[in-house]
Amino acid sequence: MTLVRKEIKICMGSSCFSRGNRMTLQVIQQYLKDHHMERDVILKGHHCFGDCSTGPVVKIGPRVYEQVTGDSILEILENEFGTM
Ligand code: FES
Repeated sequence: MTLVRKEIKICMGSSCFSRGNRMTLQVIQQYLKDHHMERDVILKGHHCFGDCSTGPVVKIGPRVYEQVTGDSILEILENEFGTM
């Protein structure tokens, strides 16, 4: 059986980056580290998704999260990975 690794794509475009994803990136990195998930989850920075008006944007697998903050990302990560 092949383990499918989940992928997090965080928008590093200038709009999302300056409006919160700079901090959100740090929160995600710390979360993965604290939960020993760095090898199970692929974290990638991404160019502008073209959805700046609804940013900051983070994509996890097929889901798109908008207006993400350093606080809301923790709840999102718990919902996505809390049972891992
Ligand atoms: S900068 Fe993030 S969607 Fe454009």
